[in-house]
Amino acid sequence: MTKKILLSVFLLPAAMAFAQQYGGMWIPTELNEKEMKDLGMKISAKDIFNTQKPSIKDAVVQFNGGCTAEIISPKGLLLTNHHCGYGQIQAHSTVQNDLLSNGFWAKNPDGELPNPGVKVDFIVDIKEVTDQILEGTDNLVEPELTKKINKNIEVYKNSQKIESYQSIIVKSMYYGNKYYAFTTETYKDIRLVGAPPQSIGKFGSDTDNWVWPRHTGDFSMFRIYAGKDNKPAEYSKDNVPYVPKHYLPVSIKDKTENDFTFVFGFPGKTTEYLPAVAVEKIMTDIDPARIAVREVALKTLDEKMRTDSETRIKYASKYASVANYWKKWIGEVEGLKKSNAVEKKVMYEGSLVAKNHEIKATLDQLNKLYNDQAPYALNNAYYTEVVRNAETLKLAGDYYDYIASVEAGKMDDKELTKLKTKVTSFYKDYSAELDAKVTAKLLTLYANKTAPQFLPIGFAKYKDENQNVPVIEEMSKNSIITGRAQVNGATLTGDIEKAFSNQDKLIKTLKKDPIYQLYVSMKETYMKNADPQFTSLQGKIDELQKKFMAQQMATDKDRKFFPDANSTLRVTYGKVKGSTPRDAVSYGYQTHLAGVMEKYIPGDYEFDVPKKLIDLYNKKDYGIYKDKTGDVPVGFTATNHTTGGNSGSPALDANGNLVGLNFDRQWEGTMSDINYDPRFSRNIMVDTKYILFIIDKYADSKWLIDEMKVIK
Ligand code: ARG
Ligand code: GLU
Repeated sequence: MTKKILLSVFLLPAAMAFAQQYGGMWIPTELNEKEMKDLGMKISAKDIFNTQKPSIKDAVVQFNGGCTAEIISPKGLLLTNHHCGYGQIQAHSTVQNDLLSNGFWAKNPDGELPNPGVKVDFIVDIKEVTDQILEGTDNLVEPELTKKINKNIEVYKNSQKIESYQSIIVKSMYYGNKYYAFTTETYKDIRLVGAPPQSIGKFGSDTDNWVWPRHTGDFSMFRIYAGKDNKPAEYSKDNVPYVPKHYLPVSIKDKTENDFTFVFGFPGKTTEYLPAVAVEKIMTDIDPARIAVREVALKTLDEKMRTDSETRIKYASKYASVANYWKKWIGEVEGLKKSNAVEKKVMYEGSLVAKNHEIKATLDQLNKLYNDQAPYALNNAYYTEVVRNAETLKLAGDYYDYIASVEAGKMDDKELTKLKTKVTSFYKDYSAELDAKVTAKLLTLYANKTAPQFLPIGFAKYKDENQNVPVIEEMSKNSIITGRAQVNGATLTGDIEKAFSNQDKLIKTLKKDPIYQLYVSMKETYMKNADPQFTSLQGKIDELQKKFMAQQMATDKDRKFFPDANSTLRVTYGKVKGSTPRDAVSYGYQTHLAGVMEKYIPGDYEFDVPKKLIDLYNKKDYGIYKDKTGDVPVGFTATNHTTGGNSGSPALDANGNLVGLNFDRQWEGTMSDINYDPRFSRNIMVDTKYILFIIDKYADSKWLIDEMKVIK
């Protein structure tokens, strides 16, 4: 056995070994077909992406600019994550009819709910356009270089004939060494079809977020509607279900470890080609700063949320979003340490320099620039996180921009309405008293962690938290920004129209406002003492990173490079697999319904289980959705290299059938955005068996399953 494994490792074709070693998010027109087939793929690259005939890409869309979704029926039925459809589910909820708590299932197409403003984008075509975009740029330096590139992009776009509902987006790849043009097609009538209750769709919530073993049924369903001609159309009740060029068959076959799988979607951002010094700064400076700020904010919010249910409801969604990356960064730092990311990069750099001595100069300069930038970058990290998480300061920032815009003569009715809508929706879920406490504690952190040259004059007085809390509370009470003091005879949180009725008075009052003044002192100090240096050094780093990227690609001829994620369509592939993240800890690749019941805490806001699901479990009423163990599979992991934006992405099998719905990564492997490591990096998917089980047995919505092509 051992011998067999060893042998197969040695026999691994070189390129495949690289895919395993580095991960990869591949442009669908440049797939490693041979490696994919060696890993078990039965279809061809042309079945995945083809502009001449229907292919899998015709079933994959970007969902509302952030997540991914896929079409799973000939009637435009769309599957994505519960956390991707959360905003829409919430928007249809009222206190009497809370779809988040109860779930929602349309009984027929007439019951599907429209979502104004929601869109999905198809990718119609992808072309490499580097020559056109870099034409005439050889001898240019910034800022002329960027100007010329932007001009070339415009010229290129104008030269292409497209339909009114299509767009062309040109994206830089490999840090500006290559350019690609994407033709997109946008559908705008997207209706909500179904969603399980949060106790299934968000089961485990923040405690289980980024964690394996996982038991979340993180899915929701929508439908694309089109005009009678099947073309994109604005919402109309006369629109008809979209007939896709291709839709994904849904497989409910059992999974086995090492099954080939690929994920097709829109990963947001990765930085896989940074020099060692940059990774070290992320580990030792940037991530710890962001974590520290969020830790204080979360702890302060949590204390209140636990004792006051009104606050808990108000802050639930904000808390989840602050906690999401807080937890991710902690995992990232751990994973970077554990995977020896810096040492690995240092060694790799050594091997590059040995092959091409010119790279040494690039690296020396990058080292110097990152070290020069370090104090400014640290201040940038603290400042941005403090201002984002101290909500009064964030609001003060909105009013600061408002005044700047008025004074520049740029504020018109449209902008004003936008601002009012923005702050009004913010105030809806805002507690001034609680925020005063968070702000006070964050100011203490900022005062203590920031080098004196980056602090406003007199800021040292904020160093003591115990003194701070009453001081900031007093300022908050006397501030119109918090809605606790009046302007023009009203509060901004009460009657915003009245508060804005006399603009001069409002601006004068804002300028004297204690919170506003505090914000201005911080902002102006940052903009004077840190931002210019930070930005100008970053410009130089970017130029050198472009060069370093080109040098890596020219020197390391054996390695197959993929461009960092940038919200464009990608394919990543790997195997269904568990992992061994820590000494004596071994994770299986599949979870089951029994595990949901193991985690069940009656009445808990994270781990409650709906009664009907418990009944199904007790009766073992699993129909065709159980696997060889007799239980219903819930989630599984694989070695696919994914990131934020891959939420909702289809996980497909060797034949291109849907087997899972991507929604997360395992905590021990989240450093894969910087340093993918096949030992620890796993993507987490909802099993199609669980999705169909919930639709059929829990929601009694068999009509939806009847639309699908189910592979048994
Ligand atoms: N960690 C997953 C992703 O980045 C899911 C986030 C939503 N869930 C949550 N509990 N906050 O984005
Ligand atoms: N939950 C992430 C998203 O919303 C996907 C998980 C990841 O970052 O890999 O896109």
